[in-house]
Amino acid sequence: MRSSILSLLAASLTICTTTVTGLGFTATFEKDGQELDPSKLELVKTPPTRHWHRQWKNRHSNSTAGGLTSRRDSLGKPGKEDISYSDNWCGAAHRTTPSDPVQNIFAYFTVPDLKLRPNIPPPQFAAAWVGIDGAKCNWTMLQAGVTTVVNSNGGQSASAWWEWFPEATYTIKGLPVKPGDWMSVNITAKDETHARVIVTNMQRGYAMTVELAGGPKLCREDTEWIVEDFYEAETNKQVAFASFSDVWFLDAAATTVKGKNVGIDGSALVHLKNPKGEVLCKSEKYDNSNFVVSSY
Ligand SMILES: *[C@@H]1O[C@H](CO)[C@@H](O)[C@H](O)[C@H]1NC(C)=O
Ligand SMILES: *[C@@H]1O[C@H](CO)[C@@H](O)[C@H](O)[C@H]1NC(C)=O
Ligand SMILES: *[C@@H]1O[C@H](CO)[C@@H](O)[C@H](O)[C@H]1NC(C)=O
Repeated sequence: MRSSILSLLAASLTICTTTVTGLGFTATFEKDGQELDPSKLELVKTPPTRHWHRQWKNRHSNSTAGGLTSRRDSLGKPGKEDISYSDNWCGAAHRTTPSDPVQNIFAYFTVPDLKLRPNIPPPQFAAAWVGIDGAKCNWTMLQAGVTTVVNSNGGQSASAWWEWFPEATYTIKGLPVKPGDWMSVNITAKDETHARVIVTNMQRGYAMTVELAGGPKLCREDTEWIVEDFYEAETNKQVAFASFSDVWFLDAAATTVKGKNVGIDGSALVHLKNPKGEVLCKSEKYDNSNFVVSSY
């Protein structure tokens, strides 16, 4: 595995971007273990989407949901497992101890398979992803996953992407994904500014690896496995959230620099509640490595 990655890297074409923070990357692409030309990834750069965990400020008081306290969340303290409500996330999130930063996060999960919610204008969406620093660190996060959209006639399309906020989102047009496909995402923070992101469509045999350098400085304080009703980058408005078939996250795991294994035990299970107080999805733990997100 390691040597094949190295030889792929050596043979790879380099795609570089230069921005204020100096994020650059090298991408490789393969199908069924055979190297493909990385230009076939067709990476499309778009404005970044803030996938951060947001919470309605006055959730516990009587006043109507006022502003968002975007970073003031109640995610589980280390070792404590609890339920937390969010206005955009459903899934599991784990906070590490500051002295032992996150190094890797992994999971298999399915591409959301959507159904239109009645009485809500289409298009409707759901994203599923795996990431680092979406909860506490307030200037950056690193993540990769998929987004599905369902249109008025029930037709769906899905795409895979990665993003190191506040850098651009890169949509991986050349990596085919369909609702229900099994994916895996594997993110390694080699240090605060270097990372490797591997996005694989297990079912169709495609895999992309990007080696990122010079990224916005990570806190490496939390890990999350999420289904999201995200905010559109251009408008900062929340998209209409579709209903979806259960999304399982399997072999969900993270490791820290000191070699600690982090799973769903001790994670906060995050449920999504909209401003009207309606719970639109919940996550339920099966065991330390596996959990399911169900739509309501
Ligand atoms: C919330 O409502 C209850 C009953 O309606 C009232 O007794 C209480 O004082 C209110 N709390 C706040 C923070 O306004
Ligand atoms: C992050 O939080 C700190 C402390 O609350 C604040 O000073 C800083 O401006 C915040 N940064 C961003 C980008 O929100
Ligand atoms: C994640 O990728 C790293 C290489 O960056 C590899 O060593 C590790 O085994 C992968 N994890 C899983 C669960 O495949």
